Amino acid sequence: MASNLKQAEKAKKSWKPDSWRGLPIQQQPEYAAEDKAQLDVVLQRLAGFPALVTPSEIRQLQGQLGEVAAGRAFLLQGGDCAESFAEFSEDNLRSYFQVMLQMTVALMYGTGQPVVKVGRVAGQFAKPRSAGVEIKDGKELPAYRGDIVNSMDFSEESRRNQPENLMKAYGQASATLNFLRSLAKGGEASLRNISQWNRAFISESKQGRRFADVVSRIDECVSFIRACGLDLDDVEQLKEASFFISHEGLLLGYEQALTRWDAKAEKHYACSAHMLWIGDRTRKLDEAHVEFFRGIGNPIACKVGPSMKPDELLRLMDVLNPENIPGHLTLISRMGADKVQELLPPLVRAVKKEGRNIIWSCDPMHGNTIKSPNGYKTRPFNDILAEVRGFFAVHKAEGTYAGGVHFEMTGQDVTECIGGAQAISEVDLKHRYHTHCDPRLNASQSLELAFLISEELKGK
Ligand code: PEP
Ligand code: CO
Repeated sequence: MASNLKQAEKAKKSWKPDSWRGLPIQQQPEYAAEDKAQLDVVLQRLAGFPALVTPSEIRQLQGQLGEVAAGRAFLLQGGDCAESFAEFSEDNLRSYFQVMLQMTVALMYGTGQPVVKVGRVAGQFAKPRSAGVEIKDGKELPAYRGDIVNSMDFSEESRRNQPENLMKAYGQASATLNFLRSLAKGGEASLRNISQWNRAFISESKQGRRFADVVSRIDECVSFIRACGLDLDDVEQLKEASFFISHEGLLLGYEQALTRWDAKAEKHYACSAHMLWIGDRTRKLDEAHVEFFRGIGNPIACKVGPSMKPDELLRLMDVLNPENIPGHLTLISRMGADKVQELLPPLVRAVKKEGRNIIWSCDPMHGNTIKSPNGYKTRPFNDILAEVRGFFAVHKAEGTYAGGVHFEMTGQDVTECIGGAQAISEVDLKHRYHTHCDPRLNASQSLELAFLISEELKGK
């Protein structure tokens, strides 16, 4: 570890926000020759724009994640697979925020631990794709790469990569963050209001009733404390929520443009979000994404899919968290329900043996995507639950801490994942299938999952 540190110091000196340029890079959009000058103009303008988050806020999240790494808190990360310009609305954001808070209450109530809330939101626009092109009825077009790059419709015009979309995404991210901050800090998230968080379409469901039951028990505790003469109105934690934002740091031009130097900490921070993660397709050592991520002071995460090997993971940790700072690096396992119990243990063991202070989180979405016979990309609720259960079982067996979960979810009543208490069937998928990329848990399924995890954690 000592030699790692020396190497890290030396390497840090050679790091710059643009030192990723010139290295091999995956999953970047190619702009038409005539749009390249415009891309440079846009990136330069973004570099002069206000950052979306500040280094001191980023350090607050780092502090909270330190608690997760120590096993004293739990990480809940969730949101859209891909945010879109079309689905941007106040109602969508409000219901998303409310469901995240409901899940938090379910998890806190079950575990007795604080929950660190990190949205996949306010910047989650860019998508890595398994194929660079899409073929429909014999016609081939470039793949959709998220609204920050091009558009979803299957036409030549829509699939053209537009530099101006970077601006639109920045604008939407900033309005989104502004609204979420208001919800978190402006009183709506206060414990006094939690009974009103139950949205009409889930309040009648089993999950809704269960949530109402938990709320009434919390109310009883609060009334009891008041009766003892303690005034809870001034307790900050009960009046507001802390809510952080994150996205996949895929478009390095955008991330570089929003990176700022913080003289106080003498570090660079990617100020497009509090936390960024590296996707499973872009995590190769010696390539551009790992290079960019190794130099930023933000808490970062890296997806860990079935192809990851223990020695590769250790080398990645040497580069991404050479100082072994607790909570700086989260490893998000996404193996698939049928593989997690086989593929995760050797990785968990290697990390434990080397004494690395990382957080293990579980993404039960990306290893469990199937195509339904009627052509929809979907995920069975039971497979999602099975991967979470497998993940907890591995950590229990290895004596390590299962620190968090990472979901693709929405506050809307969509029909994208099959199963759950609502028993969404393959036939139902066509009714409200709104996602711009992968299928998300709807509000009811999200809350159901949070209660099931909470039970799992209680029984640990
Ligand atoms: C994602 O989180 O949307 C994603 C593409 O995941 P992964 O990199 O794990 O495939
Ligand atoms: Co996805």
